[in-house]
Amino acid sequence: MKAAVVTAYGTAPQYREFAEPRPANSDEILVEVLAAGLHPRVRMQADGSHYTSSPETLPLVPGIDGVGRGSDGRLWYFLSLAGRYGSMAERAVIDTRRSFVLPEGSDPVSVAATLNCVIASWLALKRRITFSPGQNVLVLGATGGTGRMAVQVCRLLGAGQVIAAGRDPERLAAVPGATATAVIGAPETIGRLGPEVDVVLDFLWGEPATTAMAALVAGRTAPLRPLTWVNLGEMAGARAALPAGALRSSRLQLVGSGQGSLTGAEMAAEIPAVAAEIARGTFAVEPDPVALPDVERAWSRPADSSRRIVLTRRPDADGRTGRQTNRQNGWPAGSR
Ligand SMILES: NC(=O)c1ccc[n+]([C@@H]2O[C@H](COP(=O)([O-])OP(=O)(O)OC[C@H]3O[C@@H](n4cnc5c(N)ncnc54)[C@H](OP(=O)(O)O)[C@@H]3O)[C@@H](O)[C@H]2O)c1
Repeated sequence: MKAAVVTAYGTAPQYREFAEPRPANSDEILVEVLAAGLHPRVRMQADGSHYTSSPETLPLVPGIDGVGRGSDGRLWYFLSLAGRYGSMAERAVIDTRRSFVLPEGSDPVSVAATLNCVIASWLALKRRITFSPGQNVLVLGATGGTGRMAVQVCRLLGAGQVIAAGRDPERLAAVPGATATAVIGAPETIGRLGPEVDVVLDFLWGEPATTAMAALVAGRTAPLRPLTWVNLGEMAGARAALPAGALRSSRLQLVGSGQGSLTGAEMAAEIPAVAAEIARGTFAVEPDPVALPDVERAWSRPADSSRRIVLTRRPDADGRTGRQTNRQNGWPAGSR
């Protein structure tokens, strides 16, 4: 089959032949992949910088999730978090225990763009901490695909105030659902937020986390009020200097949420609820569809956190993979 293939860490995947995967047990099935999102986590998988990376898995097909159609015509959202066979290929073997049958009429490209972005904060709030309605949340990195969705997830789950923090004031102003904004690089705004923050969803780490942590703790009027800091990503750096005084002078707790701190079963258990909200139109990340053979060029495009590149099996006549899919073969209507 054809696939995006990484042969050396740090080089863009190339579209080339790769051995066809085969189901190993009765829980696994082969699907025709229709759409796979190019998330930051996938770039880390391909450049070897993710904490799960190991040179033994090279060569590999990148892609941690996707949407595919089984031989019975059903449309599946699936995770492909381990091994050398990812979702950026013509076909993938999926574990049906870690996958979800999407409602008929679901748009594979939209689901591939959106689900990963939504489930990050959803899992953090539902599975990694005890989150109660009315609590105030600061989203650090709120202008990215995952951060924007996090603001909306917080609102849906009943958060009190939701403060969106990011480095670009214009993009920040356009984040839907935020009750307030704070510009990174202006820590005094984080220190003087007004509402006491209960939870931080941190997609950045690095310097912004160090600065925001010190400012939040320094600005606290009730030091005994718990502050739970959940790290989800590292867009601003894999390491952050932690101010010791912040830990001693407040009830600050550090938690992580991701592969390893969450089990595959925990992730799979939340997929149906998230997929249902996407089908309802509650959440949507704008996709930027690119045909799988163009993977190498897509990789070198400048980052654009307002849209999510989605590799698709085939573009339709006008270059997009449409919302209408052919029910028989799962390919975009009119694309043959
Ligand atoms: N743990 C999980 O379950 C999970 C799940 C999904 C994603 N993630 C992680 O979450 C992070 C964000 O993913 P995403 O999908 O939102 O990425 P994205 O759509 O590419 O957005 C990146 C975000 O990071 C910001 N950013 C990048 N470099 C920065 C810097 N040096 N200083 C301050 N802000 C910076 C961007 O700001 P601009 O808008 O100004 O460019 C944007 O807000 C990634 O690390 C990803 O791996 C974790």
